[in-house]
Amino acid sequence: MDKVDAIMSIENVTKSFGGIKAVNNVSFYIKKGEIKALIGPNGAGKTTLFNVITKLYSKDKGKVFFLGKDMENYKPYELIGLGISRTFQNIQLIDEMTVIENVMLGYHSKTKANVADAFFHLPKNIKAENEAKERAFESLKFLKIEDTANKYPHEIPFGYKRLVEMARALCVQPDMLLLDEPAAGLNESETNRLLKTIFRIWEQNVSILLIEHDMNLVMNCSHSIVAMDEGKKIAEGPPSYIQNNEDVLKAYFGK
Ligand SMILES: Nc1ncnc2c1ncn2[C@@H]1O[C@H](COP(=O)(O)OP(=O)(O)O)[C@@H](O)[C@H]1O
Ligand SMILES: [Mg+2]
Repeated sequence: MDKVDAIMSIENVTKSFGGIKAVNNVSFYIKKGEIKALIGPNGAGKTTLFNVITKLYSKDKGKVFFLGKDMENYKPYELIGLGISRTFQNIQLIDEMTVIENVMLGYHSKTKANVADAFFHLPKNIKAENEAKERAFESLKFLKIEDTANKYPHEIPFGYKRLVEMARALCVQPDMLLLDEPAAGLNESETNRLLKTIFRIWEQNVSILLIEHDMNLVMNCSHSIVAMDEGKKIAEGPPSYIQNNEDVLKAYFGK
């Protein structure tokens, strides 16, 4: 395995819940500038692997390296500073905040202003606030949903909510973006739009790791695919290989 051009490498990662090995000795790497998909039936361990990578869960075993740095040494809130950003399978928008405020939340974890600064509204904080607002609006514009900036989440369609989450993940200008089922709940035209959006993000030199069930989307946008089943990696390769792989077909249809 030539890791020279890897942005992230995942090595022998294992994570158990009680007796269940949700992720079982999984290894693969994501090349710089690559769109990599992570597929597998429900319960395969995809989201758990994301949660291990983004330090929401501690792992039992294994290593994750980002640009050669051992992620063991970083706290969850330090990931954005490192250049890693993600969205969630279950949309996490705050209903009491406007769309742009929700997007700004992504940026706040990057600005250095501390809680006391925020509370007393020191000038330093106002500057950070304006910067965050500008970046958030740019992200909304990039995703072509800037019209929704001052609306509340309940006032916008479901498909837009996913884009707002994506704007939040993008406003910190990550080097690597992790998307957990971005097409879930989208209709066909929204999914087509998502495909174009993923390519536009990728064109900004963002490496992407994508969990997705929509096979059309996966096969059309990824350079390489890792398939998981019952915690294990069962196959890895380009779409044309994965499409005809017996273990993958068995994982999806054989049970
Ligand atoms: N926080 C948790 N506590 C206990 N079990 C969990 C937890 N998260 C995931 N699991 C279990 O781990 C396995 C993999 O789940 P998950 O990673 O969500 O799969 P996927 O995203 O591929 O559908 C499942 O058996 C699931 O029930
Ligand atoms: Mg999942």
